[in-house]
Amino acid sequence: MKSRIYSFLCLLVLLSSCKDQEKVIDYLQIADGSFLAIEELHGNLEVPWEMQYLPSEHAIYFTQIKGKISKLDLSTNKMKDIYHVPNVFHQRTLGLLGLAIHPNFEKNPFLYICYTTKEGEELFSELSRLEIHEDKVVNTKLLLKIEGGTGHNGSRLLFDQKGYLFWATGDVHSETHAQDSTTLNGKVLRMTADGLIPVDNPIKDSYVYAWGFRNIQGMTETSLGHIFTSEHGDAIEDEVNWIRPLNNYGWIEIEGFHDTAEEKAIAAKSPRTEPSRSWTPVIAPSALVYYGNNLIPSWNNSLLLGTLKSQSLRILKMNSEQNEITQEEIYLKDHYGRIRAICVDTTGNIYLATSNRDWNPQSSFPKKTDDRILKLHPTKDIPKTFLSRFKENKVKATDGKTLYNTYCASCHKEDGKGIKGNFPPLQDTEAVRNSERLLQSVFKGVNGKIEINSVIYEGQMPPFNFLKDEEIQAITNYIRSNFGNQFSEIGLQEIKVARERHTK
Ligand code: HEC
Repeated sequence: MKSRIYSFLCLLVLLSSCKDQEKVIDYLQIADGSFLAIEELHGNLEVPWEMQYLPSEHAIYFTQIKGKISKLDLSTNKMKDIYHVPNVFHQRTLGLLGLAIHPNFEKNPFLYICYTTKEGEELFSELSRLEIHEDKVVNTKLLLKIEGGTGHNGSRLLFDQKGYLFWATGDVHSETHAQDSTTLNGKVLRMTADGLIPVDNPIKDSYVYAWGFRNIQGMTETSLGHIFTSEHGDAIEDEVNWIRPLNNYGWIEIEGFHDTAEEKAIAAKSPRTEPSRSWTPVIAPSALVYYGNNLIPSWNNSLLLGTLKSQSLRILKMNSEQNEITQEEIYLKDHYGRIRAICVDTTGNIYLATSNRDWNPQSSFPKKTDDRILKLHPTKDIPKTFLSRFKENKVKATDGKTLYNTYCASCHKEDGKGIKGNFPPLQDTEAVRNSERLLQSVFKGVNGKIEINSVIYEGQMPPFNFLKDEEIQAITNYIRSNFGNQFSEIGLQEIKVARERHTK
């Protein structure tokens, strides 16, 4: 009898582990040699922008950019739609973005969300509180409304350990907001759970907690209570910053570390805070989540960073004081596409959400079942095939194709076809044929309304004047002799003259 029960139990164990293995879509070997299994929990989503884990329900609440709020029950893997925010305005990067759960949800069943709205021709970012009862929204309250823009609307929400709510906002492409401490854009704002200004905020009667930001896309708090953000730079210098009260992080006058003569002069006059880490070429950092769990011991005490352009999960290991990033490991590079949202459950399992149905999918995405929520957890399985850590090639590229793919292809695409209405094509257009106009675009960037092949573009392209003359020559000539283009070669002298004209 005993042995029969025993074999029955074995069968159960076998079945359940078979079931688990069925869901595993990949294995990943991490730097310490151990393996993580990766399961797909859910597919066919549209740009899950933020995921927050609620321990008491063992569930993930998440937003999708067009306005939906849903709940994924991790015990049953069932998804339930909770709400559609009625006044969300979605276009390109605008829509329903950040989400936070009240730290005492059982007593105060509130979700906090931020999103874009449009009134007439004017855009706004709203922060609202939703009261939840039996998975339905029974009450909504607008807590704060700030200027919105056609891009750079941030934003993330975070409750710190003391119960204050932080809102990281974007500069809405303004040239003055980030350096103006009296406006609420390009800032980290701090408020009470009721949306009021705390009496101990660093500026009296102001939400402003820290300033000098361009477009924050990730925010988290470490176990020691340090707040970190991730931020999109222009064509250079994406950043992760350690946020402290009243510090000025430099944008729009300073990008990244204080490493040019102009930047040093500015920082000498009035104090500016340097980032904890910066990336050039840019990686487009997004979700930033502190990992303080021993389930994956070698990742304990690190920041998990999801990236869009570089399509990866990065492990930023921290020192024990949690004020420095000491090491970076790169995983899943280009494998699942853009990673925008991350959360961690109490056990230490990690959840990622892809963002391949957004305005700027990278080549060979979206896949059929995008966007997806994936789960990463340690496994004792010894897989035959697996993904491994990505090693960056630090050799500096000089050929036109590699330079183009590094600096231009994330928007104009590897085939130069762009994305209609968002990024103009570089094939057979006057903007590429006319060498003077092409060089002006590269040195000064492009702004405002332009028409190419009778399609209107109203985007922003950053200047690439930080590239060397030889690099610009290689890129522009690559464009002029590819994608079906057969335009004459640009010489180094013409580039030198154009630099003089456009950057002095
Ligand atoms: C972050 C996205 C992005 C990147 C990276 C980017 N561009 Fe652009 N580019 C744009 C957008 C958006 C426009 C249209 C701007 C507008 O509507 O005003 C544009 C326009 C252009 C134009 C047309 C300008 C005209 O005169 O009509 C050229 C040429 C161009 N880009 C070349 C490049 C080259 C070369 C690179 C790499 C060195 C590059 N771009 C990198 C977004 C980008």
